[in-house]
Amino acid sequence: MFGVDLPVELVEGLEQACAGVPERQLAVAVDRLISRYRDPRPAATPILGSAADVTAYAAYRMPATWGAVRFALGQFHELVPGFRPRTFLDIGGGTGAALWASAEVFPSLTEAVVLDQVDEALQLGRRLAGGAASAVVRSAVWRRAVVTDPQRTVGEADLAAVSYVLSELSEADQAAVVTHASEAAEVVIVIEPGTPDGHRRILAARENLITAGLTVVAPCPHQTPCPLAEGADWCHFSARINRTSLHRRLKGGELSHEDEKFSYVIASRAPHPRAQGRILRHPLKRKGLVTLQVCTPADGVVPTLISKRQGETYRRARDVQWGEAWPPGSASDS
Ligand SMILES: C[S@@+](CC[C@H](N)C(=O)[O-])C[C@H]1O[C@@H](n2cnc3c(N)ncnc32)[C@H](O)[C@@H]1O
Repeated sequence: MFGVDLPVELVEGLEQACAGVPERQLAVAVDRLISRYRDPRPAATPILGSAADVTAYAAYRMPATWGAVRFALGQFHELVPGFRPRTFLDIGGGTGAALWASAEVFPSLTEAVVLDQVDEALQLGRRLAGGAASAVVRSAVWRRAVVTDPQRTVGEADLAAVSYVLSELSEADQAAVVTHASEAAEVVIVIEPGTPDGHRRILAARENLITAGLTVVAPCPHQTPCPLAEGADWCHFSARINRTSLHRRLKGGELSHEDEKFSYVIASRAPHPRAQGRILRHPLKRKGLVTLQVCTPADGVVPTLISKRQGETYRRARDVQWGEAWPPGSASDS
């Protein structure tokens, strides 16, 4: 599995932002944020409580959330290559990880708005975006907003992201944010950590999006109940991001990459083709045999064995990754 590299301008921006804060203070903030984000309780006050918190968050989490959003949107793009959004809305966008990822997957974007309740996050996001090669990232509008207020809509866009926001919210607020997103955009991505709790929040968001009249496009090959809704397993994927030296310094550890586990749903107002199946685990590749765990439209999760005798199908199976469609490139109308 190959890792992806954060855009070089973002790496430089993060280095510069961190240079202004003593490394010890950043490390303490990283530790505090890691344990706070593990706590399943909704936040009564903003978790990112200071400029140091925001800088620490950006340095240790932005690479992972950027990588996860990029992977998920990439899967959508493979299914719907004709979707060329012009406008993007990042709901609870923080320092703009989903903005950077969306701009990379969709070079058609020309306008973007990032909404967040924390001024310091918006300020740092704006500063980082100022150095971007992408015009839409550089020109993004950063706006302070509490996105859970059911009375206030969040605007309109072709594509909206709710990236790693729901875990901070009560169930009622989660539903309010997803409803806002579904009313605002043609295509909505909701993404959460790839934990059992994160998957449960994605399942609730999926239900809300379907109730709002949207059609699930990815990752599911269907929009009937999730076969992993009950039981020990949960639907999640993995994105490998190469670590920068800053990241290694802040989080400790020597590994040259991190694997970000995430759960997501992407739904659209217009129906689009879906995958015929979705690979739910790292493919097991042995000599002459590949085993895939495939989520299917009608039969739940099916172990699928592909042997060397299957020629071209086998060669394709050797190249596929966890999270990709199987068979590759094929799709059925949703
Ligand atoms: C874990 S961070 C994720 C940031 C970014 N979306 C990402 O993927 O890296 C959650 C963000 O949601 C924002 N947020 C949480 N509740 C919010 C609310 N009610 N209104 C606006 N922003 C909110 C927080 O301020 C924070 O920036």
